[in-house]
Amino acid sequence: MLPLHRSLPPLLRRDLLRLFANGAAAGPVVRLDAAGFRLLQVNAEPLMRDILLDKDRCYRKGSLMRRLAAVTGEGLLINDGERWKRHRRLANPALTAGSLPRYVPAMRRAIAQTIERWRHEGTGAGPRDLVTELSRTTLVSLLDSIFGLRLKGDRLDGRLARVSGVIHALLDDLVRRGSSLLAPPLAWPTPANRRFRRRIAEANAILDQIIAARRRDLADSDEPADLLGQWLLQRRRDSSHFSAEEMRDELMTMLIAGHHSLAIALAWALYHVAREPGLQAALQSETEAGRDLPHRLEDLDQLPLTRGVLLEALRLYPQPPILLREAIADHALGGYRIRRGDQLLLSIPTLHRDPLHWPAPECFEPRRFDGFNADAMMQSHHLGFGGGPRSCIGRRFAMLEGVLVIAQLIQAFRLRPATPDTAPVPPRFAGMLVPAAPLLVHAEPR
Ligand code: HEM
Repeated sequence: MLPLHRSLPPLLRRDLLRLFANGAAAGPVVRLDAAGFRLLQVNAEPLMRDILLDKDRCYRKGSLMRRLAAVTGEGLLINDGERWKRHRRLANPALTAGSLPRYVPAMRRAIAQTIERWRHEGTGAGPRDLVTELSRTTLVSLLDSIFGLRLKGDRLDGRLARVSGVIHALLDDLVRRGSSLLAPPLAWPTPANRRFRRRIAEANAILDQIIAARRRDLADSDEPADLLGQWLLQRRRDSSHFSAEEMRDELMTMLIAGHHSLAIALAWALYHVAREPGLQAALQSETEAGRDLPHRLEDLDQLPLTRGVLLEALRLYPQPPILLREAIADHALGGYRIRRGDQLLLSIPTLHRDPLHWPAPECFEPRRFDGFNADAMMQSHHLGFGGGPRSCIGRRFAMLEGVLVIAQLIQAFRLRPATPDTAPVPPRFAGMLVPAAPLLVHAEPR
């Protein structure tokens, strides 16, 4: 058990990152019990590998993850067992490497719109907050590639604006809840909980309308470039595919799982690029030479530095930094006795900043990923997309879009930090590893 003088001060200050750092210094497995749960922080890589891969049958996502069910229903992020297997099998074909090129036009439209807006507003608009900006870019891209909802000119059309408003508000709420292990259960009738539930109901109603409209639009001969269109066509051919309600849960899951994670990772990546002119120049040469790339996942091999920037951002700022599992049976893990019901917190920053695997672990050094095998990340000590059967289903999508965003923005703008001489902004735990202060940069057109 972590001694009280090391656990209480960070808990009182709501500094969960400090709490996990103290836990990491205390041993491979450390108890941090809180909020009525037996919580075990896991810090050693072999144990993480056991949990995610070799002994994955001893675990499920569990009670802490199920708090998300209020938003995602029984979607992939939180479900388990046979239901999870079926959902993963049905969702997967639309997210394989071979399916990705169909989403690239949507990704490009979203990035082009960001570039146009930044150019139009000019440098007079002052420094840009990277998290806000990239949240908008990645949400517009996801709504286009998931639902086929497009921007009209550079304006959000009515439905897009409503979905985007509700999703942003929901994510803000989730981040606030994620900052505290002690958030009151959603069933309690607090004003914040009532507001949260109203937003979920509104988001679900909008998603139902979008699904119904897309179903009406879709012809059997279409080759849809959106995830929803593909799922709906598959359902016409095979009635055992996702039901309307399952589809809604999975669409919400994709939005919640795919939006913030990518936006925040990209914000950290571009923030570091802005702070390092030498890196930025090298990145610009690489992306100029590869001008229009990437179109497909294989093209990332031709942009190794750009890909390295994204992987390095995910190493230093893994999203989410803690993976949660619940033990479903008593068993031994390494030399530790795990009891049924234990909640395990896999501390990814501990692994990602371990000097044994990552020389100079605190430095932002994308070239360390030269020759890296992105298909075997867990073997290379990188758990940025998790590992084992429950690893991220959207990881190829995220890598392709992430590299595309960095490549296109660096070709269009020279980034400069708004406060060049200060120490880098530190991360803060809020479910995700968000910046403790806004990541502000100036973007000068090239
Ligand atoms: C940089 C961006 C992303 C990061 C860092 C990321 C990270 C992760 C991680 C670490 C997991 C494993 C969670 C666990 O083991 O508990 C995960 C799962 C998942 N991710 Fe991602 N993700 C990203 C983008 C996306 C995108 C774009 C989508 C969808 C289009 C997506 C959908 C999912 C889903 C559905 C799961 C649950 C998979 C399952 O349990 O079968 N993610 N993600």
